[in-house]
Amino acid sequence: MSNARTALQAHYQAIQSLHLRDLFAQDPQRFERFSLQVGDLLLDYSKNRITTETVSLLMQLAREANVEGWRERMFSGLKINNTEHRAVLHTALRNRANTPVRVDGDDVMPGVNDVLDKMAAFAEKVRSGSWLGYTGKSITDIVNIGIGGSDLGPQMVCQALSAYRHPRLRMHFMSNIDGAHVVEILRDLNPETTLFIVASKTFTTQETMTNANYVRQWFLQRVQDPAHIAKHFVAVSTNTQGVSAFGIDTANMFEFWDWVGGRYSLWSAIGLPIVLSVGMDNFIALLSGAFEMDLHFRQAPLESNMPVILALLGIWYNNYFGAESQVILPYDHYLRSLPMYLQQADMESNGKSVDRDGNPVTQSTGPIIWGSTGINGQHAFYQLLHQGTKLIPADFIITRQAPTELREHHDILMSNFLAQTEALMWGRTLEETKASGATEPLNPKVFAGNHPSNAMMLDELTPQSLGMLIALYE
Ligand code: F6P
Repeated sequence: MSNARTALQAHYQAIQSLHLRDLFAQDPQRFERFSLQVGDLLLDYSKNRITTETVSLLMQLAREANVEGWRERMFSGLKINNTEHRAVLHTALRNRANTPVRVDGDDVMPGVNDVLDKMAAFAEKVRSGSWLGYTGKSITDIVNIGIGGSDLGPQMVCQALSAYRHPRLRMHFMSNIDGAHVVEILRDLNPETTLFIVASKTFTTQETMTNANYVRQWFLQRVQDPAHIAKHFVAVSTNTQGVSAFGIDTANMFEFWDWVGGRYSLWSAIGLPIVLSVGMDNFIALLSGAFEMDLHFRQAPLESNMPVILALLGIWYNNYFGAESQVILPYDHYLRSLPMYLQQADMESNGKSVDRDGNPVTQSTGPIIWGSTGINGQHAFYQLLHQGTKLIPADFIITRQAPTELREHHDILMSNFLAQTEALMWGRTLEETKASGATEPLNPKVFAGNHPSNAMMLDELTPQSLGMLIALYE
């Protein structure tokens, strides 16, 4: 076992019974010590079961694992995905400094920029209404046909940024092989004004290809002439041959590369629905936000590095406290799909039981990621968070500014957000329960607290701040 792991094990034994109440009482500077700001994003991690010693041991663990070295290898395009012998370069897609990033000696940035230009030009035509369907009408509906990373990212971002959406364009996301999903979407669509995006990195995924083939047949039955496909079907893929075999003109194909993992692909041409919905300037702002977080991740010392701190807290609970899951609680209706998006990002990445050399791992790997909007969760599953026997670290997310003119709603949302993190941490003693005027029996109304949480606050949900938030989790 590594030195840090041995030391962390001993440290866990020493501090596992410490209560967050006591940690706050002992250290009035706890918030200043355990909070960080990057751009518009504030992270308060003071309500975690950690001391300064915990943090320094976790940093030692990160250094023993050579996080800094691997981070640099990733950003510089080395083939750190050794099972597929590929680079891992979603960061190049949002490299707004445009500095060269080389894979096998070739700079990938000119290709990245060309695809961005192509997406911008195409989206401009559709958004302005000058891209016409086969009967000369502008597009009103866009259907993204894709699954997993070719669905969850663009869907989540389009929803999160729906305040920025184009007023004429309705976005639909067809992923499920269940015919009900297909039928429900097609029911209200007019082929004259609908654009289909077939989004698949491989262009072989059974669900996507079955749905895409069916939709093409549906379209041809109505328009009769295969020549009209060119105005109504585009593709996003790494597989040019597959796209042309399907019958889509490769001039209408938006390319990406094998060094973009599916679950990290919303920054690539897979983000085409986002560009169509919110426009290229907002897509660039999304990329810029992610870039800002990437710069922070790459440059900040581990001790003040937001993604590193969150990752290490995850390891701390997963491996030392035996926490099985991690709950994501956005207090924001626009972010309601974020937990599902993060499920793929985290569970597909960390769902491993062998190390890089194929040997069984000796530590627990990724947690179960789950969640929903916090307020809805409060009336559904929070009882188990507060009073159940499981330790479930929670991430709370909110925006400081009200997203709508309903300010009183936002005040209530904010007070719940603050109260819940405090209640998880603080719990309620028998005396406090009595003092609150609760009636007998009192015991079920007592709860121990000491449940860890992170609180993240964005100033406002903008393309830029959303980009930062997603990149933080990546
Ligand atoms: O389920 C595996 C997976 O490859 C995901 O990683 C990916 O996001 C999804 O399927 C869709 O793949 P594709 O974009 O190739 O259709």
